[in-house]
Amino acid sequence: MQDLDPVRARVLAEVAAAGDEAAIEAVRVTALGKKGEISLMMRELGKMSPEERQQAGPQLNALKDEINAAVTARRAALADEVLAKRLETEWLDVTLAPRPRQLGTIHPVSQVTDEVTAIFADLGFSVAEGPQVETDWYNFDALNIPPEHPARQEMDTFYMVRAEGDNRPPNVLRTHTSPVQIRHMEAHGAPCRVIAPGRVYRCDYDQTHTPMFHQVEGLAIDTDISMANLKWVLEEFCRAFFEVDGVELRFRASHFPFTEPSAEVDIRCSWAGGQLKIGEGDDWMEILGSGMVHPKVLAASGVDPEIYQGFAFGLGIDRIAMLKYGIPDLRAFFDSDLRWLKHYGFAALDMPTMHGGLSA
Ligand code: DAH
Repeated sequence: MQDLDPVRARVLAEVAAAGDEAAIEAVRVTALGKKGEISLMMRELGKMSPEERQQAGPQLNALKDEINAAVTARRAALADEVLAKRLETEWLDVTLAPRPRQLGTIHPVSQVTDEVTAIFADLGFSVAEGPQVETDWYNFDALNIPPEHPARQEMDTFYMVRAEGDNRPPNVLRTHTSPVQIRHMEAHGAPCRVIAPGRVYRCDYDQTHTPMFHQVEGLAIDTDISMANLKWVLEEFCRAFFEVDGVELRFRASHFPFTEPSAEVDIRCSWAGGQLKIGEGDDWMEILGSGMVHPKVLAASGVDPEIYQGFAFGLGIDRIAMLKYGIPDLRAFFDSDLRWLKHYGFAALDMPTMHGGLSA
């Protein structure tokens, strides 16, 4: 058999010189492939005498192993080189300051809804919800507002359209959150203590009115609830919500079909210089309607008025947001102007709680 040393030297030099994966593979196939140089030499073993074979066999096997090992090592070295090159070009400076991101803000209506919910939760009220498209039964009749009642006209109701030939009274966009009272008592009975925040709709538009706005309904029913409880709860709420020492409320006798007696509550405020401030000035802003739930409303909800009584109120969320945060025009609430949202919005993780504070 020929001298293997020159073959070894040549093949190992070729492996060392191979510059990429394809070149290494070519060298390997030329040496160790089916028709490779070493493989052909191994085929010759069969023709040798036993003595020759005993000498040549181990030598060839050793060469084969050596070449395989060199190929594997070269492969690993090449992969390391490639990785090193990538690391060099793709490095990141993790100590760099991040690019500033556009941060969204929480809308004052959402913030105030959360604040109101936190305060009433503290007073033992849970949250109820109802649909925004409501039947005229829930929005009016069940609340003791029969079809001919003037309150139906005063509410500037948006009516939905019925399919032609469908003579049922049209559904409405709920004009207040009061229908949630009925739905809640129907489903859960008495006693109960809930608030129901949500969107309501009326055809009205000026500095303090928009066709869509927000109310929170309150309802507390039990065997022994009186007007005194109502007054205490509302005063307690206003003190907690406005976080201003001098909040002044005015309870005004009023009339709602669904309460008897009824009271509207105004809060002292000032519009001086176009700035809206609470707790000072000679103006009053109406923020809520309230009263003792009318027996007919209890009966319509399946609650026995001979046993149960209670109070209810409807509070304008947008109104108290304007007052608390000095926002003079309600219409801007719903313009989606990013500058306005940035100015009046709240930080996303600033969740109002009674223990952590309502607003930072
Ligand atoms: N639903 C009335 C409105 O939108 C507000 C209201 C008044 C709600 C008295 C009540 C209430 O629950 O007792 O004008």
